[in-house]
Amino acid sequence: MPTTVIIGTQWGDEGKGKVVDYLSQKMDFVVRFNGGPNAGHTVINDYGEFKLHLVSAGIFNQKAISIIGNGVAIDPEILNEEIENLRGKAVSCQNLKVSDKAHLILPWHILLDGLQEKERGTNEIGTTKRGIGPVFSDKVGRFGLRAGDFLDEKELSEKLFLSYNRAKNLLGGKFNFSFDAILKKILSHRSNLLSYIVQTESILWEAISDKKKILLEGAQGALLDVDFGTYPDVTSSACISASACQGSGIPPKELNEIIGVVKAYTTRVGAKEQPFPTEMPPELASELREKANEYGATTGRPRRCGWLDGFLLRYAAKINGFTSLAITRLDSLTGFEKLKICSGYKTKEGKTISLAELSLSQLKGVQPIYLELPGWKEFSKDCKRFSDLPKETQRYLNKIEELVEVPIKLISFGPERKKMLEV
Ligand code: IMP
Repeated sequence: MPTTVIIGTQWGDEGKGKVVDYLSQKMDFVVRFNGGPNAGHTVINDYGEFKLHLVSAGIFNQKAISIIGNGVAIDPEILNEEIENLRGKAVSCQNLKVSDKAHLILPWHILLDGLQEKERGTNEIGTTKRGIGPVFSDKVGRFGLRAGDFLDEKELSEKLFLSYNRAKNLLGGKFNFSFDAILKKILSHRSNLLSYIVQTESILWEAISDKKKILLEGAQGALLDVDFGTYPDVTSSACISASACQGSGIPPKELNEIIGVVKAYTTRVGAKEQPFPTEMPPELASELREKANEYGATTGRPRRCGWLDGFLLRYAAKINGFTSLAITRLDSLTGFEKLKICSGYKTKEGKTISLAELSLSQLKGVQPIYLELPGWKEFSKDCKRFSDLPKETQRYLNKIEELVEVPIKLISFGPERKKMLEV
């Protein structure tokens, strides 16, 4: 697996952190390439339990180089906190590198995120309020500040002043920041982060020439992609495999494996009304939520829970070109007498919908077609091979492969690193 991409196949929160933590043990380079601190990976390993937002879960392979690529939006305050927290638990950040082209989230991006949500009223997206929409708007609008702007202190103050004034004019009375206070804060972040900022794409080109193993870690999931997801209820960056190149500087022809991470069921967070065809009835959803602790790692919000949606997975496979799947959180389904998998959708009138007819913006009103499978009672303590899994679990996994038409390579059945099977 020379260059491998990890992609979420659903609405984020698929357990990518665990898969990255596991695979990165064999890697020379690990790269985050999209999103920002809206992402939240929970990782449990020998160093302890961590909630990571910006630094790749690959940081725990202390021999690997850990890169935050140009496609990531960085909140300097959050990055600083994260580095301090890692160091405090004996995880060195000596091998961390931050792309000079990564955009910076400034305090007014966060303010604007909240104000825009209010303005949307009942159409609110339910963002993480981390400034993601506004920072990526500034990026494509060519108003952004980038990590590379930290390199020259004088230029940084000038650019910050321009950005400050622009936001002040835009926000009028709602803008209550003092430039001097913000500058002071930014300069203190600058002094902590400066040593990590470099041109990261050339490091990766050299790594490819040297045949090094590279893992590209995607945030969020295919259904939150700004183009191909459930627009407008999506995030503001690209989340599909193609964005691994755009967000790192690695050319497409160098990608060898694309692993789609599939949670064994489906969850979604955001504003209440967003369509979720396979959502479970409230009692069942709440049982699963409590059992699996389905609360946001970034916001603490309860996640809506539903059955696995094999039809949307097939769509995600088409758009991403997965070479294999990693199934996570199988243990959370233990104890359910019966399990459902959605194999397709029907219209209200009973007409089956093909992938070509599928509109992700209009999932409202579609009727899922379910397959029903028997559940399993428990996993044996030393589950090392596929055949050690309960027969019902094997059937469930075979059905996923059949529906998505992609082979399963990794199976996670518990939060710890050792609870992972390679098929
Ligand atoms: P934003 O990315 O904060 O602008 O939020 C836009 C939408 O994406 C909201 O519905 C968020 O809940 C969702 N979202 C963003 N990041 C994540 C994630 O890491 N996991 C799950 N949902 C996310």
